[in-house]
Amino acid sequence: MKYMKAEPFRIKMVETVKKTTKAERQKWLIEAGYNAFKLKAENVYVDCLTDSGTSAMSNRQWAALMMGDESYAGCRSFYNLEESVQDVFGMPYVQPTHQGRAADYIMAKKIYCEPGKYAIGNMHFDTFRGNAEVLGAIPVDYVIDEGLNTGSAYHPFKGNIDLNKMQQLIDEKGADNVCVVIITVTCNNNGGQPVSMKNIREVSELAQKYNIPVVMDSARLAENAYFIQQREEGYQDKSIKEITKEMFSYCETATMSSKKDGLVNIGGLFVTRNNDIYIQANQLAIVHEGFITYGGMSGRDMEALAVGLQEGCDEQYLEYRINQVKYLGDRLKEKGVPIIEPTGGHGVYVDGRRFFPQIPQHEFPSQRLVVALYEEAGVRAVELGACAFGSKDKETGEPIWPELETMRIALSRRVYTNSHLDVIAEALGDIYANRDQYKGMKLVYEGPITSLRHFTAGFELL
Ligand code: F0G
Repeated sequence: MKYMKAEPFRIKMVETVKKTTKAERQKWLIEAGYNAFKLKAENVYVDCLTDSGTSAMSNRQWAALMMGDESYAGCRSFYNLEESVQDVFGMPYVQPTHQGRAADYIMAKKIYCEPGKYAIGNMHFDTFRGNAEVLGAIPVDYVIDEGLNTGSAYHPFKGNIDLNKMQQLIDEKGADNVCVVIITVTCNNNGGQPVSMKNIREVSELAQKYNIPVVMDSARLAENAYFIQQREEGYQDKSIKEITKEMFSYCETATMSSKKDGLVNIGGLFVTRNNDIYIQANQLAIVHEGFITYGGMSGRDMEALAVGLQEGCDEQYLEYRINQVKYLGDRLKEKGVPIIEPTGGHGVYVDGRRFFPQIPQHEFPSQRLVVALYEEAGVRAVELGACAFGSKDKETGEPIWPELETMRIALSRRVYTNSHLDVIAEALGDIYANRDQYKGMKLVYEGPITSLRHFTAGFELL
């Protein structure tokens, strides 16, 4: 396979994207209050807002759609999905949900979160954090220090949990006050960084010692498994599914947003090895999602997911996928653009503070970069920094700024070619060359809930 370094697929159907002028984009930015979430997708040339629900499905998945069994109860599509999930997760009980955050809700509600108790994670994703906070639990992020240092030397698993911090909290607050440990694979908030098998195993052993349940937030389970295979000693000869099964052997339950490594446009999963937990999840699903055997998904979508999960674990696909992200990272590095290294699984994260050192964090440097990138090239990325992760002190209302300040360029699966990525690299390189000319932004509107403000915020240029 020496020469076969290109995409392991060919293109059968295309979707036209619109080329636009800078003047048009400036007008649309004003109309959107300089918030990328408020731009119309049709006015975006290369859309890197998210890798969620944006995958291109394969011919096999489109064929599977036609096989959807839409029976309310006991449909064949559920059993096909169940078999595929069991094959990847190695766990017996499968409850579909309409997307990942519904699985988060089920997981948090009454099952794993209790008021006033701590939920330890590497870095909790917003949807679990929101659910946990609504239920009164206290989410804490214990990713290793290297995971928060965008300029630090190479570390193969920047998503790992710091076992010392975890032990310290248990010692200080008592194990009874820790309700759950959630390992997010890969760790989205700091660059799609993987978690090693050793860390998953050790976190699980420590949690087990104190009878604390372990849950895996597994939206990008296959990308994490690929990194383990490539980077961790002892896994080179293991298949991706052997690795995913071992990963999940260390947890009781897993939630999944199927919209990532499931290679589908909608769907979620709640998977567990504990029958009592499954029965509770079934009850919550019936009330909030749908009957046990569809949980908010149509039969056809379950069929597409059953196939997508298998394709997402294909090694040739994963090699292409991870290397495409690296390709963009390498092009940006050539131009001096400061990014989180090594590149992770689903996107390239540009360090806003190192990119625009003249813009203080309270003037939203990464958001400024999002705006510049769209203005110059019609490319849409997302801010993961002062706006998205900023919070306020509960008593004084004083703003608290996050440690990481980045712009994420998320890459949809099987959607864009490397020529599209060259557009991004060229545009960002030019903005970087002119970086001195940029000033910050002012937040002029935020909704009632600070942790959700990035979706609806309005800005002005300073
Ligand atoms: N967990 C992780 C790690 C995620 O990245 C996401 C979604 C969810 C849970 C929630 O899943 O969207 O299906 O309800 N992440 C998207 C993103 C939105 O852009 O990173 P969902």
